[in-house]
Amino acid sequence: MKLKIYKDKNTVAEEFSKFFASQTGENKEFHVALSGGSTPKIVFDVLAYEFGSSVDWSVVHFYWGDERCVSPDDDQSNYKMTVEHLFSKIDVPESNIHRILGENDPIQEAQRYSTVLIDTLPNVNGYPQFDLVILGMGDDGHTASIFPHEIELWHSDKVCEVAVHPESGQKRVTITGDAINNAKTVAFLVTGESKVEKVSEILDQKGGFKSYPANLVAPKSGNLLWFLDEAAATGITSK
Ligand code: 6PG
Repeated sequence: MKLKIYKDKNTVAEEFSKFFASQTGENKEFHVALSGGSTPKIVFDVLAYEFGSSVDWSVVHFYWGDERCVSPDDDQSNYKMTVEHLFSKIDVPESNIHRILGENDPIQEAQRYSTVLIDTLPNVNGYPQFDLVILGMGDDGHTASIFPHEIELWHSDKVCEVAVHPESGQKRVTITGDAINNAKTVAFLVTGESKVEKVSEILDQKGGFKSYPANLVAPKSGNLLWFLDEAAATGITSK
């Protein structure tokens, strides 16, 4: 695990974008699972603005770690957010965008998307393997769309499951623990003082860390990066 702590959210976005661009520079297919949330949103803006013309987007295949079960033109859609902040500004082939169809029946879509990942991604250790999974972390310690009240979904033998947001009841399709931990690299993008408590509990392995899905992220490759701003990282004692 590597902690990469920067002074503010924008610097996190800048530094992660440099990292992302460096990962895609090997001219072979690069399969990345995106996250929703406020930090990825500014990362996409920086990626588009600063690397839009230098990255060969024709080799980058985009997937999602989770999607809200809404239509693609709904303001809640992670896909819509990505179109607005990234895809509308770069030259990426439509065939490289493998969105979760939020408008479909959730159970059927979880099954369909599991098949898409199994059929499209390289199979390593008997499981689909992303080159990179980008994750956020909720104030409650959720990641992707696996929430503490449904932490058992992490251990599902399915590649994707249907989750339910604990407050809104909104259904979501999410990838599960084995798909995340089979990735070559996993990068958390976590910023803001609202994350302090959970970040320090997880990174210092104290308090309620065992009940947070984000605590279960441990790629077999060992390549786990936490991109944090100082606001989110201030409580960590084991730096
Ligand atoms: C989503 C995200 C979710 C997000 C966290 C953190 O669909 O909402 O996948 O897991 O990453 O809620 O969001 P912020 O970065 O906005 O705090």
